[in-house]
Amino acid sequence: MAKLTLNDLDLKNKTVLLRADFNVPQDADLNITDDTRIRGTLPTLKYILDNGAKKLVIISHLGRPDGKAVAKYSLKPVGERLGKLLGEKVLFFNECIGEDIKKSIENSSERVVLLENLRFHAEEEANDAGFAKQLASLGDLFVNDAFGTAHRAHASTEGITHFLKSAAGFLLEKEIKYLGAAVEDPEKPFIVILGGSKVSDKIKVINNLLPKCDAIIIGGGMAYTFLKAQGKEIGNSKLEKDRLDLAKSILENARKLGKEILLPIDNVAVKEIKEDAKVEIVGENIPDGLIAVDIGPETVKLFTAKLKSAKTIVWNGPVGIFEMPAFSNGTRSIAEFIAGLKCVSIIGGGDTAAAIAKFKLEDKMTHISTGGGASLEFLEGKILPGVAALSEK
Ligand code: 3PG
Repeated sequence: MAKLTLNDLDLKNKTVLLRADFNVPQDADLNITDDTRIRGTLPTLKYILDNGAKKLVIISHLGRPDGKAVAKYSLKPVGERLGKLLGEKVLFFNECIGEDIKKSIENSSERVVLLENLRFHAEEEANDAGFAKQLASLGDLFVNDAFGTAHRAHASTEGITHFLKSAAGFLLEKEIKYLGAAVEDPEKPFIVILGGSKVSDKIKVINNLLPKCDAIIIGGGMAYTFLKAQGKEIGNSKLEKDRLDLAKSILENARKLGKEILLPIDNVAVKEIKEDAKVEIVGENIPDGLIAVDIGPETVKLFTAKLKSAKTIVWNGPVGIFEMPAFSNGTRSIAEFIAGLKCVSIIGGGDTAAAIAKFKLEDKMTHISTGGGASLEFLEGKILPGVAALSEK
């Protein structure tokens, strides 16, 4: 990595300001339902504490409180979980800037401090220079481990780097290493699987990866706009009418480039999307009144036959509504098949990561990104502002 990383820093007696992405899912009682992002940052936190830092001050956002203090978006429960995972007391302050906070950090006997949600201040998302400067005044060095927020140019990801020496944490470094290698120098055959509901969300990924990969497998809601573009009947399945011409041009472009695009050849379909809906297996033409909710068994065979020879797989977006057990077979079958392959398997964050976790296959994948939007923008070929802003080596 051309940027400074944690290993390049002398941490002795320094107060390290660390940006984490602790934007974790919580239930109605604010219990954390998935702490992957907190666990992902632990190696960075432990290294900082084991290598002589005087204090570790952690900043993060949680949810989208829109510049106001909203109780349900407090990071306090995260501080409690972090303390347990780290095996060390984490002192929580209910503010993230100001002279009082600065003094309290200096006077605290604990080594680890977590500050309240940055997004309780509108200046965070506005990348306000004054706010960034105030944050920077809380540490001697800045470490960014928030890969999940690296696509946002906010005060705590971009602005702050103008005031402190800024390095990548281990999680951010690892994400860039795996995603970067898969996109820039993949071992071939390189196969991309795209799913999720909307074509519009994945257009830039297709445009960026089509020339680099050998084939793109498409499932999920987005597949039906492509099938319609090929003249198939899609019943009441998801259709983005305004993307039909674009879907046609992507298929045409793939043909010109000699790249294969694989689409469902059969489908699990229902009259109504509900848990106990009666399912029918239909072919690539879906009758009127039916909605495709998952890929069918013949499609699983088609897709896995293609994946068998892959040396690199990048997967972004489930191929069906996996959250409902009756419609999860396609996503589960693809996940289990990849888990048994000897290849580099890179899983985009967000829904795809949630699916892999649900099927308990996390250990079987090469890398599961902690960033949903960030991994998508990286796969689109965009420069992530939070990474670009870090100090050069
Ligand atoms: C995420 O969950 O994708 C990140 O934490 C970024 O959150 P945001 O989309 O609210 O900026």
